[in-house]
Amino acid sequence: MKTSEKISRRTFLDWLLMGGLLAWGTAFVAPVITYVWPSQKRGPNSQTVSVGKVDDFTEWQHKMVALDNKPVIVVRTPQGFRAYLAICTHLGCIVGWDAGRRQIACPCHAGFFDLNGRPVAGPPPRPLAEQTVVVVNNEVMVKST
Ligand code: FES
Repeated sequence: MKTSEKISRRTFLDWLLMGGLLAWGTAFVAPVITYVWPSQKRGPNSQTVSVGKVDDFTEWQHKMVALDNKPVIVVRTPQGFRAYLAICTHLGCIVGWDAGRRQIACPCHAGFFDLNGRPVAGPPPRPLAEQTVVVVNNEVMVKST
């Protein structure tokens, strides 16, 4: 009886050790796999969202929508709709629309982007990421690119 208790205790400790090693291994390996194989390489992750009807927008009106859990700014210009990821390329602040300048503006460090998403003032080093806009049956749709 005493021998089986020792074996039982040993087995329990072995399982406890194995479980701990398995949990530690999973916690260590999962971030490594995510880093080595980022989501963009795992396959398409694009989403399409409706922004509203074309008639809901007057010229130079904008809307913010969430696309793939990221903010996107959509602006109706005389040339059509433009959409950009609303994350500043400087330090990642959320950009907005400056109606007076008719430009996309970053409130953090006075960065400005033109309607092609190019930085025209302030510290942003790169253009905003453009998103695809399609109009289907008078419905404005934005698709991540
Ligand atoms: S974060 Fe946008 S200008 Fe600095």
